[in-house]
Amino acid sequence: MSTIAEGLLEKIADQFAGDSSGHDLPHIQRVLNLARQIQEVEGGDLLVIEIAAVLHDISDHKFNGGLLNEGGRVARQLLVSEGFEMEIIDRVCSIIDKVSFKGANTETEELDLEAMIVQDADRLDALGAIGIARTFAYGGFKGQPMYDPDIQPVLHQDFKSYAKGKTTSINHFYEKLLLLKDRLNTETAKRIAEERHNFMVAFLEQFKKEWENK
Ligand code: NI
Repeated sequence: MSTIAEGLLEKIADQFAGDSSGHDLPHIQRVLNLARQIQEVEGGDLLVIEIAAVLHDISDHKFNGGLLNEGGRVARQLLVSEGFEMEIIDRVCSIIDKVSFKGANTETEELDLEAMIVQDADRLDALGAIGIARTFAYGGFKGQPMYDPDIQPVLHQDFKSYAKGKTTSINHFYEKLLLLKDRLNTETAKRIAEERHNFMVAFLEQFKKEWENK
């Protein structure tokens, strides 16, 4: 474990202060911790993984007006100004540009081990009790209804329809979160995901039971 990641975390803290969309500093911290936990078993370059985990949401398309590959550019600026080696910067920035989820049936990119681990860590933090809380926080942030039985979940074929489609927080489970356990890269992440996945399934069952007042 390096303290370099903690130093960077401090540098970007202001940018995430006051976030109410579920992409706050504690999310970044949890992704960093999960990435370290996965790396311990799976291997990979720890420093590259840590830096990419800390910077993975630095300029996400969900918050910058839909621009893709903006995260890598913003991260590069920061890392250059901090004096990191070019080789590390290149590897980190390519991870940041690749790890974002762009829809259920969109093509997955080829990832190296470090990218796989950061992507898994980020996806694990979208699951379980935290995942549920973040989903409703994000839904409120976007002004979406919690649930509407008349709006059906859609398995998006491309990124554009995923980003633009009308949906609800409950639909988000069927459009993304319940699919994630089969889209994890590493065995370690799959093991961690199991309990979180089952918790969400139980939550949805209970939610619908209460909604229908059965
Ligand atoms: Ni994230």
